[in-house]
Amino acid sequence: MRIPDDTIERIKQAADIVEVVGDFVSLKKRGSNYIACCPFHNEKSPSFNVNPARQIYKCFGCGKAGDSVRFVMDVENIGYGEALRFLAKKYGIEIEEQAPTPEDLLRQNERESLYIVLNFAKTYFRDLLNSHEEGQSIGLSYFRERGFTTPTIDAFDLGYSLNSWDGLLQEAEKRGYSRDLLEKAGLILNKEGDSEAKRKVFDRFRGRVMFPIHNVSGRVIAFGARILVNDKNQPKYLNSPETDAYHKSQVLYGIYQAKQTIRQEDVCYLTEGYTDVISLHQAGIKNVVASSGTSLTVEQIRLISRFTPNVTILYDGDAAGIKAALRGLDLVLDEGLNVSIVTLPDGEDPDSYVRRVGAEAFKTYIKTKASDFIRFKTETLLRDAGDNPFKRAEVLGEVVSSIVRIPDALQRQIFFKTTAQQLRVDEQTLISEGNRLIREKRDKQQKDDQRQRDRDGRRPAATDGGQSNSSLADINALLAEAGISSPDQAGPPDDFFSDDYIPASAPAPTTRLQRAQRTALSYQEEECIRLLLNYGSRELEPGITLCQYILAEIADIDFQTAPYDLMIRLYREAFLHGDILTADNFLDRADSPDAQREAITLTTPRHEISDGWLKHEIIVPSEEDLKILSDAAYGNILRIKKMIAEERMLAIRRNIVEATDPDESDRLMAEYMRYKAIDVEIAKLLGTVISG
Ligand code: CTP
Ligand code: MN
Repeated sequence: MRIPDDTIERIKQAADIVEVVGDFVSLKKRGSNYIACCPFHNEKSPSFNVNPARQIYKCFGCGKAGDSVRFVMDVENIGYGEALRFLAKKYGIEIEEQAPTPEDLLRQNERESLYIVLNFAKTYFRDLLNSHEEGQSIGLSYFRERGFTTPTIDAFDLGYSLNSWDGLLQEAEKRGYSRDLLEKAGLILNKEGDSEAKRKVFDRFRGRVMFPIHNVSGRVIAFGARILVNDKNQPKYLNSPETDAYHKSQVLYGIYQAKQTIRQEDVCYLTEGYTDVISLHQAGIKNVVASSGTSLTVEQIRLISRFTPNVTILYDGDAAGIKAALRGLDLVLDEGLNVSIVTLPDGEDPDSYVRRVGAEAFKTYIKTKASDFIRFKTETLLRDAGDNPFKRAEVLGEVVSSIVRIPDALQRQIFFKTTAQQLRVDEQTLISEGNRLIREKRDKQQKDDQRQRDRDGRRPAATDGGQSNSSLADINALLAEAGISSPDQAGPPDDFFSDDYIPASAPAPTTRLQRAQRTALSYQEEECIRLLLNYGSRELEPGITLCQYILAEIADIDFQTAPYDLMIRLYREAFLHGDILTADNFLDRADSPDAQREAITLTTPRHEISDGWLKHEIIVPSEEDLKILSDAAYGNILRIKKMIAEERMLAIRRNIVEATDPDESDRLMAEYMRYKAIDVEIAKLLGTVISG
C-alpha cells in the first residue's frame, strides 16, 4: 500500500508547519518565527523554534529538528507512512488506497494494524448506537436520559456493543481482520486453550455503552464500556487492557477534544470520569480531561503541560481518597505545573453538578473555590491534625516536602510565606526544614560525590556540636551549583617558583591596604591568610592540618584582594608539594612586596592589628586553644562563603533592575533565591560557631 509520490508531494505542500505543530504545542509568535516549550523534552522556558518561511522546526534544547512529517512521526511515535496518512486526513487529501486485505494488514506494522482495527470497532459500535434497534432502544436512550445531545455523542464517538457473544467478532472476521489482531487490540477474549470455557472466542465488550479513548491526535486506542443494568457481579466500567496501542498511564481521556480549548483558556480541568468530561464539554467547558479512575502519572502530566502549565483538579465532594491522592500530586509539582484544587459539594461529581447548576454557576464555583495545591494540602492535613502538636509538626514536614519540589524558587518562597501563616509558625522554620529536605534529597542523588566532599571538607572534630559534619560540604555543593568555582584560575603562574621568575609588571610597593577601600570580604580573606601564616601546620584533628582543612574548603574560591589572592595561590601550590608556607617563605621573596608586607603584619602580635577586625567579627585566637582555633577557621570559611553569596545577590539585584526580558528576570530571580538559600543556610551554621 504505497502512497503515490504526487500524493506525498501534495500532503507536504498542504501540511503547514505552524498548523501541524500548533496542534500539539502552544505556539507563541516571536518575530517571524514561533516558539514553544519543546514537546520532546521537559523544559520550563521555550527553546523550541518553528520557522514558517523554511517550514521547519528546531529545538535548541534537545536538538530535534525537521519538517511537518518528521514532527508528526516524532510526536506520535509513528512511521513515515503513517505520518503521511495522518496529515492527509487532517488536510482532507485522499490517498488512493484499497480497503485492507488480510495480507495487507499482515504486512503493515503491528501498531498501525491495531489502529485500523480499533477504528473499525469504533465505527461498528457507533453505527450500532445510532442505527441498530437494540443500540437505539438501550444505548441511545441511556445517553439521552443522561442528557447527552447528538453533537456531544458525535464529538466523543460514543457507541454501543450488542448484548451478544460475538457481534463484533463476526463482523470483523467478515472484513478480514484476524482473531490474533482482534485479541491484540483487546477487543476479543480468546480462551481456546481452556477446555472448561463454554465459549472459546468472544467479544470483550457486550451490552454496554462504549466510550472510545482517543490519543492526542484523535486516533482511537482503547475503549471504556459502561454497563447499563445493575449487576453486582460485573464492574460498572470495563476497560481495554494494555495493548501496543494503549498505555493507560500515558493517556488522558478527552485530551483530543479538549486540547484546543486548553490552549486557549490556558488551564486544564482534570476530572475522574468519562461522564464528567462529556458533561462539562457539553456545557461548554471543553478544556477538561479525565485520568479515568487512576492516580495521575508523570506521562499524563507531561501530556497536559504540552498545552498549559495550569491544572485545576476537580474532586468529587465525597472522594474518600483525597488524602492518598494528595501525595501522588507531588508529581505534578515536580513538573513545574501550577496546580489548583476544587472540591465539589458533597455527593456531587462534575457531571452531576454541572447538570444541576448549569455552566455559568459551575464556572463561578470553580473560580471562587479553587485553592492552590499547597494551601489545599495544608488545610486538609491540618483539619485531621486538630490541636495535636505532634500531628501538626508532621503536617509541617509533609507540606514542606511538597513545597521543595516546586522547581521555581520564587514560587517556593511565596509558598513558604503563605504556608507559615496558615500553620501559624515562623517562615524561617519552614525554610530551614525545606533546606534540610533539599539537602537530604541531594545527598541521596550525589552519594558518591558527597562522600568525596565529606572527606575533603568536614568541620574539624575539635569544634563542638559536631552535629552537621557535612554542612560545609553542602554549602560547597550549593556554591558550585550556583556557579562559584573557577578551577582554571586556581594556581599561581606556572613558573612563579622558578628563580628567574619576573612578574609581568613588577608591583609597586604599597602601603597597607586603605581601610576605606576595603570590602568586608577582604577582611575575611586577610583573616584566612593570617590563620594560615600563624597556625598553618597545627593539626585540628589527627592528621589534618589547619592548612589542609582551609585549602580543601575554599578549593573553588578565588580571593578578590590582590595580595591575599596571590598568597592563597602560593599556599595551594606549595601544598601540592606537601609544604605549608610560613611567614618566612614570604619574607625572603622580593618579587611580591605586598605579600611580604602582609606576611609581616599578620604575624605580629594582636595589639598591633587593626581594630577593623573586631568590627568584622573576626576572632583572634590569641590563645593556643585548639577549640578556639578550630572555630576561628570554621567561622572564617563560612563568612567567606556567605559574603560571596551576598555579593552575588547584590550583583543579581542590579541585573534584575536592568533586565527588560521577563524570562531573563525570572531566571535572575530564581538565581537570586538560590543564593538567598545559601545565605540563610550559612547564617544558621554561623549561629553555631562561638564568635569572639
Ligand atoms: N472507572 C473504571 N472502572 C470502574 C469504575 C470506574 O475504569 N469499575 C473509571 C471510569 O473512567 C470512570 C471513573 O473511573 O469514569 C470514575 O468512576 P465513577 O465516578 O464511578 O463513574 P462516573 O464517571 O461518575 O460514571 P457514572 O456517572 O456513569 O456513574
Ligand atoms: Mn458520575
